[in-house]
Amino acid sequence: MSLQGKHIILGICGGIAAYKSVSLLRLLVKAGAEVQVVITPAGKEFITPVTLSALSQKPVVSEFFTANTGEWHSHVDLGLWADCMVIAPATASSIGKMAHGIADNMLITTYLSAKSPVFIAPAMDLDMMAHPSTQANLRLLESYGNHIIEPEVGYLASGLTGKGRMEEPERIVEVLQKHFASTETMKGKKVLITAGPTHEKIDPVRFIGNYSSGKMGYALAEECASRGAEVTLVSGPVSLSISNPSVKVEKVESAKQMLAACQNHFPAVDVAIMCAAVADYAPAHPADSKIKREHQEVPVIELVKNPDIAATLGAAKKPGQQLVGFALETDHEFDNALEKLARKNLDMIVLNSMRDRGAGFGTDTNKVTIFTRESRKEYPLKSKREVAADIVDAIINHGCELSSEQ
Ligand code: CTP
Repeated sequence: MSLQGKHIILGICGGIAAYKSVSLLRLLVKAGAEVQVVITPAGKEFITPVTLSALSQKPVVSEFFTANTGEWHSHVDLGLWADCMVIAPATASSIGKMAHGIADNMLITTYLSAKSPVFIAPAMDLDMMAHPSTQANLRLLESYGNHIIEPEVGYLASGLTGKGRMEEPERIVEVLQKHFASTETMKGKKVLITAGPTHEKIDPVRFIGNYSSGKMGYALAEECASRGAEVTLVSGPVSLSISNPSVKVEKVESAKQMLAACQNHFPAVDVAIMCAAVADYAPAHPADSKIKREHQEVPVIELVKNPDIAATLGAAKKPGQQLVGFALETDHEFDNALEKLARKNLDMIVLNSMRDRGAGFGTDTNKVTIFTRESRKEYPLKSKREVAADIVDAIINHGCELSSEQ
């Protein structure tokens, strides 16, 4: 995999790990990328611009303008030029500034202007890394669609050992190569995603619903869009929003509305991911006005079965379309997941077990096992955005296997 012709901004902050940025720059250039280095004033205390400009064959940008000539360095132009930006090392201070838009140096203004995907490789002492402020800032940056390249556990400049060592340059290059390769595959692909719960109306003020927050489906939508896909997100009632403008959000309330929206879009999509926690039953006769407590016997709500959206799409699936489902189980997890995969004619099913801590509704993390008809892979506990990346990688791999079989 090469990075031939890719425009990459390498952002360097002031930390000991800046010495590794030199190797990273060399590897990026060797892989064929055109690299523009942007360094913070503190970064220059750790590594000299002369080394960086010699290796990148471009003047290093650090200030808003060159002092003696007054030449203005446009962060807006840089942001438009780049195919991706990688900030390595990213210090706690710069991570905080990026998360909160404190644009007091060229690196942060460039970050705020960047239209391309941004990869952030933190490097700091273990306690700084573990601090709730740093963690909250990283999760905030992730929720804006940035990719965090988690640091490793290892020996740190402080002499301590723990999580905070910047990922090795070779590995960062691999992450970028994988990103561009999967962007090629996903570019222009049409993806349909369902997310959140459905609300089944009892009367104008009450409904049957569930605890789904929609976070997993929204993370999937962000992930697919960041890789160039055209995404339609059919969302039940949640309080989330999407930052990527190439995701079209269609809000629905009930399972019936979700089914209608999905049937409308499904014939034209390449991939459909059924992430919604659809209510299995709906009141048979929702009341037109509020059911009053006084003058009433305890009401009995008659329920009817909701349509199975995944199974309906599974029955209508054409060759070349991939249908992915989810299974949230409390027991007999593997058997239930495989049974759903077959019954709904899915190509892949993502299992989360309610028995795993940090998995399931409402959390920011998830722990999944991904099944196809032929394979099973278990993943560790990760943020929902990282899980979304794993799922999209699995879809891409499975799609490649399917097309090589045809
Ligand atoms: N699903 C759906 N429509 C439904 C129910 C589920 O599209 N009416 C989809 C979900 O989005 C998920 C998959 O089917 O991708 C499995 O959902 P789940 O609730 O685990 O399965 P159910 O078929 O509802 O079975 P059960 O609740 O009995 O476990």
